[in-house]
Amino acid sequence: MEPITFKDYYDNTVKLSFDDHPFSTDPKHVWVLCRFRGQWLLTEHPRRGIEFPGGKVEPGENADQAAVREVFEETGGHVSSLHYLGQYKVDGKGGIIIKNIYYATVDKLLLKDRYYETNGPVFFEELPESFEGQQKFSFMMKDQVLIQSLQHTKERFL
Ligand code: GTP
Repeated sequence: MEPITFKDYYDNTVKLSFDDHPFSTDPKHVWVLCRFRGQWLLTEHPRRGIEFPGGKVEPGENADQAAVREVFEETGGHVSSLHYLGQYKVDGKGGIIIKNIYYATVDKLLLKDRYYETNGPVFFEELPESFEGQQKFSFMMKDQVLIQSLQHTKERFL
């Protein structure tokens, strides 16, 4: 399927696809839609606000491993199953970044003293219908990537 193209919150061009690794077989970024005991599990970034966990792939690990690590670092959650959903490519001011999107379930949550770059876990029974103008949510929650990824997650897993 042709990727869909749109502008993000910062007016950067994004291409999104739910095919098997359409932009890179070795992407350097990950984003993980998480659930824990029937709730959505997100994290609060001190500057960006509330968002699903994710980040950069580190040297020596692959994208799947980065996804599991980032969920733990940012929420304390232990991933019990990880599913690849799709990929997106952002053409931003600092260059092009490619992210794998995952759906993960978490079976254990460790309460930690520190959560690396975040303030730790945040839970939602239901996510808001729209994130527009909602200051407490990160820009990452405010484009088609989330809407479409949630749709795919619901169709496949919920
Ligand atoms: P650090 O994560 O603190 O190292 O900062 P960084 O801004 O260098 O991060 P990164 O390389 O992850 O992102 C660079 C730029 O790409 C960001 O400033 C955003 O404009 C854009 N970007 C990163 N992740 C996303 C995303 O998930 N969605 C969208 N739309 N843009 C993103």
